[in-house]
Amino acid sequence: MNSILVSRSQAARGLAVEAARRGRLLWVTGIDTGVGKTLLARLLVAWGRGSGRDVRAVKPFCAGSMDDIKEIDKVQSDIVGKWEVCRCYVRRPLAPWVAARQSGLALPARGEVIEWIGDRAAACDGLVVEGAGGLATPLGQGYSALELIEASGGGVVVVGTNRLGVISQTRLAVIALQNVGVQSIGVVLMDRSRADAAMRSNAWALRELLGGAKVWRLPWYGNNSLGLNRIQTISKNIQKTLAQIFRTSRLCTLHRA
Ligand SMILES: Nc1ncnc2c1ncn2[C@@H]1O[C@H](COP(=O)(O)OP(=O)(O)OP(=O)(O)O)[C@@H](O)[C@H]1O
Ligand SMILES: [Mg+2]
Repeated sequence: MNSILVSRSQAARGLAVEAARRGRLLWVTGIDTGVGKTLLARLLVAWGRGSGRDVRAVKPFCAGSMDDIKEIDKVQSDIVGKWEVCRCYVRRPLAPWVAARQSGLALPARGEVIEWIGDRAAACDGLVVEGAGGLATPLGQGYSALELIEASGGGVVVVGTNRLGVISQTRLAVIALQNVGVQSIGVVLMDRSRADAAMRSNAWALRELLGGAKVWRLPWYGNNSLGLNRIQTISKNIQKTLAQIFRTSRLCTLHRA
């Protein structure tokens, strides 16, 4: 029994790693919660599907509001057949591992989550995986998005709010990713409605500090809710940027400091 379990999880890990090798796995992680990860994931899916690629998104862990799952579902509602966006939902709006500990819930082992991601990556042309919270937010026993990324491989986009403080937080995230061997890292800075003194300089500063890494800056798209039509329109308007984010985040190798 054990050997069957081991070989199944090895096979699934193989699927995830193979998908990553072929450029099909793109992690969207963040320096924090609420930075725009779901917005970017939805834009990438809308761009992919709008340009004839079967790009899909998942959010393996979700805590509190189910809005992320619903919003991701909407942008890929044309998928035929059952497609689970989320592997593990916890009701309390806390880090999933904390919420599970407080309510006595069992969380899947890291290998199971990798298996789940690998199965989904193998079923489409490109899988966008949204983390929960920030890169080091505890998801399950002994792992956060960082350890999942280490196990699955793939490209990684670090999303941060374009304001004072993002340089340090982004560098820390990038250093952590490099330390587990990730070579393909991009950064997306999301503008906010209110500019601060750092908003115009963060992108070039990070490009220089991260050794020529790809850094993209997306504008503020207004306070109105970003429904499906709006997401599709924006994804068309910035299709070149989204294509770059999707394609080159794997190829962008950062230099170790
Ligand atoms: N550039 C932007 N223009 C307009 N609205 C934005 C922008 N970036 C983020 N938002 C809005 O900010 C809110 C938080 O963004 P989002 O849900 O994508 O963050 P998140 O990182 O996925 O958060 P979580 O950690 O909860 O998953 C959303 O209402 C989103 O639409
Ligand atoms: Mg989200």
